[in-house]
Amino acid sequence: MAHTPETEAKRRRTFAIISHPDAGKTTLTEHLLLAGGSIRAAGQVRARGENRRTRSDWMKIERERGISVSSSVMTFEHADLMFNLLDTPGHEDFSEDTYRTLTAADAAVMVLDAAKGIEPQTLKLFEVCRLRDIPIITFINKMDREAEDPLALLDEVASKLQLDPSPLYWPAGSGNRFRGMVELTTGLFYPFTKRESGADYDQGHEDPVPLAQAVTAGLLDAAELAEVTETAELVAGGFKAFDVESFLEGHMTPVIFGSALRHYGVNQLLAALGAYAPPPKHVKAEKAGVDTAIDPGDKEVTGFIFKVQANMDPNHRDRIAMLKLTSGRFQRGMKLKVQNTGKQLSVNAPIMFFASDRELAEEAFGGDVIGIPNHGVLRVGDSLSETGIIRFQGLPNFAPEILQRVRVKDPLKAKHLKKALESLAEEGVTQLFRPAIGSDFIVGAVGQLQFEVMADRLANEYGLECVFEPSPFSEARWLSGTPDKIEDFAGKYRSAMGTDLDEAPVFLGKSAWEINYVAERFPDVQFQRTKERG
Ligand code: G4P
Repeated sequence: MAHTPETEAKRRRTFAIISHPDAGKTTLTEHLLLAGGSIRAAGQVRARGENRRTRSDWMKIERERGISVSSSVMTFEHADLMFNLLDTPGHEDFSEDTYRTLTAADAAVMVLDAAKGIEPQTLKLFEVCRLRDIPIITFINKMDREAEDPLALLDEVASKLQLDPSPLYWPAGSGNRFRGMVELTTGLFYPFTKRESGADYDQGHEDPVPLAQAVTAGLLDAAELAEVTETAELVAGGFKAFDVESFLEGHMTPVIFGSALRHYGVNQLLAALGAYAPPPKHVKAEKAGVDTAIDPGDKEVTGFIFKVQANMDPNHRDRIAMLKLTSGRFQRGMKLKVQNTGKQLSVNAPIMFFASDRELAEEAFGGDVIGIPNHGVLRVGDSLSETGIIRFQGLPNFAPEILQRVRVKDPLKAKHLKKALESLAEEGVTQLFRPAIGSDFIVGAVGQLQFEVMADRLANEYGLECVFEPSPFSEARWLSGTPDKIEDFAGKYRSAMGTDLDEAPVFLGKSAWEINYVAERFPDVQFQRTKERG
């Protein structure tokens, strides 16, 4: 088959894993890579993570708190498909970052802990997926431990997420009595092979047998067979059959059971991703101001930046902008233009991220994610293309929920502080506001943890010992309206006015009540909670 942008884009599956911390995302990632053949032994993902952590001090926070702060991408090829797995941070303080990462995903795997069902962070992330109509495959993990009744788990998916669960498999038991699962369409039973603890599960489990033969094969006893046969029949009648259209529209989720740690159900998940997860879709954009849709098979190389990751290697002070390609055949050395600034850059050292390493990307297609090292030219939300006239809908900035004043301990370093704060804000980690009166900077974040990360990074990466102090403000809103109305308003509320990184006017309120009060008095000015970037 010819390698055209169209055929190559069709081979791409770009997905994210969403889950509550501890449900098993890291373990599943590792075992997907293992199943995909891109790592050889379990333990490598974590080892890689640890390596990175020892090299980068601010990751201390990750280590100490056992959370994953930064998101990245991992690419692997399997069964003639290219999978791009986007890693999303699990901690709720990083929801904005996660939100942006999900804008680059074409599908998601929702991992549930079989003993816990839907947890708060699962729900939040699910809502983001729903907002963007991202189809979801459900993986019910940790079946090797005592689990909730699988019927109750599916009911929870249906009632809490308003999503039709459609089990592709049905489990036989859980915990010590977990025997495997039966594929509902074929009646094949996939045994869960128990091994000594600590034994290597990476090689997979025994081959499936028709369910009726499971007893003679010594995989189930007669009572277990009767139970799984009965419930599987009940389930096949009680839940809607899997319908790929309904899945793609975000109404239905296929469900697979398994144990990431025991490498069980992982091959089935990978197969479902290959078979059902969509290749990259058409993306809405403006071409020279006219509404259009970018087809992944289009000739022109286009894409958008959904994340900027700084200092992955602190020795190099590098900044890598993550570009989700939306169309064309990208080739190393190509020139791309940034739509909003008109700047052109030669992409000479694009990076692709494989499980154990990063490599120079010689070629990439719609659906792929490449990292572009740069020195602050690229920002989150930027649209890139060969002609420079394509503009994707910007990624939103969310009004921060905590505003703090930042001060550097050594006053001689104030200038450095400004630069450091600006570059962190450009990464999209935190937001920076400059009040109209006074010289302090106000830093805004969605959660407290971001301030800790920031203080750590300011100290380690920029040598700036800083203190964060409460600010008089608690809420920020972007203002929109005609320039004269905004000017009129700003004149009356100078002490509460500020600007963001792009010099856009911002109202800094002391409380939500104050913002409502002021907004009612100035109906010609809009007080916005989100601002589009790019
Ligand atoms: P996360 O990224 O979603 O936060 O979860 P992670 O994969 O780190 O898994 C959280 C814990 O759950 C880990 O145990 C992991 O070994 C365990 N786990 C993941 N999948 C399974 C599974 O299928 N079955 C069982 N029984 N356990 C599973 P830990 O003790 O916190 O970490 P570790 O010491 O094992 O690394």
